[in-house]
Amino acid sequence: MKFLKIFIAPTDEDYYLSPPRDAHEHGAGPCKAPAFPNPKRGVTMFAADQDRRALFRRPASKKTQISLVPEPARAFRLPLEQGALPPRIADFIATHELPSPCLVVDVDIVEHNYVSMTRALPLAHVYYAVKANPAEEIIARLARLGANFDTASPGEIDLCLELGISPSRISYGNTIKKQADIAYAYQQGVRLFAFDSEAELNKIAQSAPGAKVFCRILVESEGAEWPLSRKFGCTPDMALELLLKARQSGLDAYGVSFHVGSQQTRLEQWDRAIAQVAKLFARTQGRGLELRMVNLGGGFPSRYCASVHPLEDYAKAVIEAMVRHFGASIPEMILEPGRSLVGDAGVIQSEVVLVAKKDARNDKRWVYLDIGKFSGLVETMDEAIKYRFLTPHDGGATGPVAIAGPTCDSADILYEKAPYELPLALAAGDRVLILSTGAYTTTYASVNFNGFSPLEAICI
Ligand SMILES: Cc1ncc(COP(=O)(O)O)c(C=O)c1O
Repeated sequence: MKFLKIFIAPTDEDYYLSPPRDAHEHGAGPCKAPAFPNPKRGVTMFAADQDRRALFRRPASKKTQISLVPEPARAFRLPLEQGALPPRIADFIATHELPSPCLVVDVDIVEHNYVSMTRALPLAHVYYAVKANPAEEIIARLARLGANFDTASPGEIDLCLELGISPSRISYGNTIKKQADIAYAYQQGVRLFAFDSEAELNKIAQSAPGAKVFCRILVESEGAEWPLSRKFGCTPDMALELLLKARQSGLDAYGVSFHVGSQQTRLEQWDRAIAQVAKLFARTQGRGLELRMVNLGGGFPSRYCASVHPLEDYAKAVIEAMVRHFGASIPEMILEPGRSLVGDAGVIQSEVVLVAKKDARNDKRWVYLDIGKFSGLVETMDEAIKYRFLTPHDGGATGPVAIAGPTCDSADILYEKAPYELPLALAAGDRVLILSTGAYTTTYASVNFNGFSPLEAICI
């Protein structure tokens, strides 16, 4: 493939002004909804705002330089600024009667994010983490673009296979698998498996003879807004022994994986993890085993309340760390992005059910939405992921709020401690858009808790 170095000049539709950057950094200061002047009630407000904002364009001098581009970019209508509502989604919501709540995903944005990632890290093979959003339209689009798929269960494997994806493009990346499920995946032709313990390795050796395996090591996840904790990964010392045992068991001891935690905000965590992996490679080589692959997992961000580094900074951190620790002999690289590919591509439309005051002496209002922890917003657990909200009254006076879901469970509170503010004019019946909700929402929704239906996804 011939790589070109090109400049992508924005088309008129590519840029529009984002709301003021008043998003707070890591919990400091109020997390206000982006403020739009001249609010109008109803969903048409969003489309009107898109038109208004489309009038503001970046100066022509601000061109994006992209290097190592496999082919000229297709022009998409994208929200290129933090805080912006994707224009195609805005149009769609404005022109359709949608159920509430529902998630609208712009699959073009998923494509844009995938292409950006493959350009930023052209040496890596991308395995989309299906768990982030298994909508068929997303899987099919990514398959067409050449992606591979990281799966966690026979259900996800079947989904990929049914869409015509070859099993050679599927990794069974869950380190916790039933023996029967390993056998099933192997029967279907899957040949790449993860493990992080001796017992799991034994299962793979028995039910997937000769398969390629990689061992997940435990790495630091500080700085991740959704850390993956000690549940996964073993120590490098144990990984060394297990990889040697994998070879003895007739498996192809292929490499090492890690995950620095989802929505990882500290770039240096990749350096630390890669340093450990490189040491492990050297130690296995000392014992006569040549590993060939490092799986760098996910962790790349979506844009929630706090601002995040651009993807290019993440890519630079990864490449620099690989060169620093592996020198000239960089092994094969795998990435397993989930959140960063689909998060910003989705917007949930919800409705205010109730705005209530609990104490006449306290200004704080409770805003109850028709979506909560049990209908898709599970990542608000411990107020970990802080979503951005748009309302029809943005631009008007705001006041402090707690935001909660509609069920009878007291755990169904999205934010009580985080300093969210919403317009004082917000009232029952108002539509509220929740941005960057394309990842880890539909699949987390309960089936029928309190009689509420699972979150519906519409891909456009
Ligand atoms: C094994 C594995 N790979 C990749 C991912 C995707 O991570 P992210 O959504 O941070 O990109 C996850 C997320 O839980 C995971 O468990």
